[in-house]
Amino acid sequence: MNDTHPILARLYALKDADEAREVYDAWAADYDHDTIDDMGYVAPALAAEALAERISDGATVLDAGCGTGLVGAELAQRREVALDGMDLSPGMLERARAREVYRTLEIADLTRELAVVDDAYDAVICVGTLTGGHVGPGVLAEFVRITAPGGAIVATVHSHVWEDGGYRAEIERLAGEGLVSAEVWERPYHVREQMSCRLCVLTPQ
Ligand SMILES: C[S@@+](CC[C@H](N)C(=O)[O-])C[C@H]1O[C@@H](n2cnc3c(N)ncnc32)[C@H](O)[C@@H]1O
Repeated sequence: MNDTHPILARLYALKDADEAREVYDAWAADYDHDTIDDMGYVAPALAAEALAERISDGATVLDAGCGTGLVGAELAQRREVALDGMDLSPGMLERARAREVYRTLEIADLTRELAVVDDAYDAVICVGTLTGGHVGPGVLAEFVRITAPGGAIVATVHSHVWEDGGYRAEIERLAGEGLVSAEVWERPYHVREQMSCRLCVLTPQ
């Protein structure tokens, strides 16, 4: 792994949801500056662009692990969508609320079944949250369940967990069982940390 910013080692080794909530609550005020300015975090813009190309204005979208709302802000520049956000950290959600681009914002743990009905959304976007110490590959099946057939799931997976964390295998399983068609590209993530991600676009069948 090339990431060198002091907080990153702690983030990728979070032990459970309680620790994740504590660390992100404490980081919320500095998160945008540290990620965008210091690390060169380009994933929110790249993922929002990929999603905007695949949806129409008026689409219902869930931003899963929305954090301070960087993805919501990027999406709002490109599309007029009905955007809901979910995250574990109240401190991060408070920052997201201040952006005024989300229809609803909710505390949710993405490692558990989501309180969302089947086919509820036209699209799900999940950026920066499928990584070590955060949310594992099991959530991808939940995203498929809550996204309408023909919709779009756009997710980034940090490159250092793509194989070992089981994300690649889970996407291959979902595609192999005919539940999604999948496209995956390697893309920049933290450009100042020379770190890449896999940008995944899944289309539920
Ligand atoms: C690196 S941030 C990404 C936030 C935002 N998507 C972005 O790109 O700026 C990871 C986010 O995942 C959230 N998170 C970590 N574990 C989670 C879990 N189990 N359920 C929901 N959110 C979680 C954190 O609170 C944090 O806001």
